Amino acid sequence: MSHMTLYLDCNATTPIDPRVLAEVHRCFMEEIGNAGSPHEFGLRARDIVHQARDQIAKVIAAKRNEIIFTSGATESNNLAIFGLVEHGITSGRKHIVSTRIEHKAVLEPLAELRRRGFEVTLVPPEQNGRVAADAVLDAVRSDTLLVSLMHVNNETGVIQPVVQVAERLVAPDVFLHVDAAQGFGKDLAPLRHSRIDLMSISSHKIFGPVGVGALMVRRRRDRAIPLTPLLYGGGQELGLRPGTLPVALISGFGMAAQLSAAEVESRRTACLAIRGQLLAGLAPLHPVFHGAGDLTLPHVVCVSFPGVDADDAIERLTGVIALSTGSACTTVCATASHVLSAMGVPQPELDGAVRISWSHQTDVAELAQRLPAIVERLRP
Ligand SMILES: Cc1ncc(COP(=O)(O)O)c(C=O)c1O
Repeated sequence: MSHMTLYLDCNATTPIDPRVLAEVHRCFMEEIGNAGSPHEFGLRARDIVHQARDQIAKVIAAKRNEIIFTSGATESNNLAIFGLVEHGITSGRKHIVSTRIEHKAVLEPLAELRRRGFEVTLVPPEQNGRVAADAVLDAVRSDTLLVSLMHVNNETGVIQPVVQVAERLVAPDVFLHVDAAQGFGKDLAPLRHSRIDLMSISSHKIFGPVGVGALMVRRRRDRAIPLTPLLYGGGQELGLRPGTLPVALISGFGMAAQLSAAEVESRRTACLAIRGQLLAGLAPLHPVFHGAGDLTLPHVVCVSFPGVDADDAIERLTGVIALSTGSACTTVCATASHVLSAMGVPQPELDGAVRISWSHQTDVAELAQRLPAIVERLRP
């Protein structure tokens, strides 16, 4: 057995796929042009960016010109939310609907908008970790500008009712934003819904390089999305996100997106096998799971072990497996999970909750070998 700690924190960030890394490396070495330059190096860079845009767009049934490259989902969320502010003010629509279980990269921009005079309704989840579509739709008012709903929760892995909301959100003046950072390339169908106006995605959650992401901005003939940029500069990305494009990262992101869709079923099967093994191995500890198992993606569990505090659990598992308490941000910020507390998880379990997240790349034999040590160390 290798002495390296087994990495089980894939919802925080995924290890890069070796095929993607080879492509990123090739681009850094060989594709040296600026995608905005007129010469052959620039043209080659432009072609690479076009190809990546197509690869990403295809996964979500979007068009090439609907993909705006950003630095990641945090920036995409900020562009989607703050980008609509001017329109909200001029049209008198200053109400936003979102949920209590969003990532901080949505909740913090919304908190800032509250300080700027917007009204924000945050819909709570049910105990199973899922927000009811009805509750989201019932919160929409005549002055609602935006509904922002995450696709898959980063702490519990619970899939949210994006399609149900998209189907029934008929008011044409209400924009629908989906933070798809955790589900893009993993749960394909909901993200192909044409009612979605804006969608945030990130490369480092799908085995691509960190530092690049995208915002899908729907282009409809009859209904333009009145988005204003956060940055001003050289006009790249239709003026919505100026700055020299990181061609190598974008190329890797495109390949990672394409692979995620092509391999979605085999990855799912591999993750399910790991899930089965992990849950069976942990059973002697009488774990309490947060988020209904039948609603979650197969590569994550959020779990408490009775009598063991989360920080304590992580420390005891040092050198065996690496995992998180809630979101990576929450770990750094050292606050209790806002997601689990919104779900009504009682305090002792809240203090004990850890998130274990793996991938199709996780070595199932390694995990099997470590399970006895995990159980031993987690006994209260
Ligand atoms: C649901 C969700 N939204 C947004 C983000 C932020 O993504 P990025 O790290 O690409 O900025 C994350 C990452 O943890 C996430 O899980």
